[in-house]
Amino acid sequence: MSKNHQKVVLVGDGAVGSSYAFAMAQQGLAEELAIVDIIKDRTKGDALDLEDATAFTAPKNFYSADYDTCKDADLVVITAGAPQKPGETRLQLVDKNLKIIKSVVEPIVKSGFNGIFLVAANPVDVLTYAVQKLSGFPKNKVVGSGTSLDSARLRVALAKKFNVSPVDVSANIMAEHGDSEFAAYSSATIGGKPVLDLAKEQGVSMDELLKIEDDVRKKAYQIINLKGATFYGVATALARISRAILRDENAVLPIGAPMNGEYGLHDLYIGSPAVVNASGVAKVLEVPLDDREEKAMKSSAETLEEVAKNGMA
Ligand code: LAC
Repeated sequence: MSKNHQKVVLVGDGAVGSSYAFAMAQQGLAEELAIVDIIKDRTKGDALDLEDATAFTAPKNFYSADYDTCKDADLVVITAGAPQKPGETRLQLVDKNLKIIKSVVEPIVKSGFNGIFLVAANPVDVLTYAVQKLSGFPKNKVVGSGTSLDSARLRVALAKKFNVSPVDVSANIMAEHGDSEFAAYSSATIGGKPVLDLAKEQGVSMDELLKIEDDVRKKAYQIINLKGATFYGVATALARISRAILRDENAVLPIGAPMNGEYGLHDLYIGSPAVVNASGVAKVLEVPLDDREEKAMKSSAETLEEVAKNGMA
């Protein structure tokens, strides 16, 4: 990965993809961002619109492209896929979005791409697994957005509850980016103080914490019912993961990571804190789980394994 000129290819220029490109422009990440989508005019229009923003941010080359542009890319971000409809679960998208993923991965690999994949289409854990299997890339070079957005939602909710800044809340949602996710409260801290201790001190019950977990789990449905889709939160989470990769940060982020025995899990991608750098997933951080969390992780993994097995059959 060249340090002084970095290239990102965005595959999928829908609401999430377009918002991601805007976030990358705002943050001045990468020098080049190519946009690939079947709706060519949209990619050309977005490229022109985004380049206007660079007059206020940083020099960057946005342009519409085809898959062959992936050849010399450092990072390919896949947002291509149908979004949830009101009331639809992410897992219910698996059949139609697996078909899209298959149609996308083949031309990317054929281009000679040898960088890092970042996958955001849903059900993201299953589709990240599919990208790794279909591409044949080493597992560490395929990163899923996983529970990065959910963890941001949890941090925002806990910050409101305890009247602190979300920046100072270290808390993870783990497992599926979806209905079987859980809040790893036993390892959550605020300013280094365990959240469970702070809750006791401030009279916040476990039921209230579990209500926050459930509100986080359902937040996407709430937003989709109100505005039809979610995109700013996930796009900003994708930009954060992209920054860790492009700047070789060794950042610890709750991403969709490949399991090689961590939590007793093998051969699947699931939300867990992991070290992210230019190599992709440098190391999964197997955080201690209490009984409740261990059961939730196991149950979520079983759900994902079942869906992945059926989907890839
Ligand atoms: C959400 C979508 C990205 O959780 O799955 O908003």
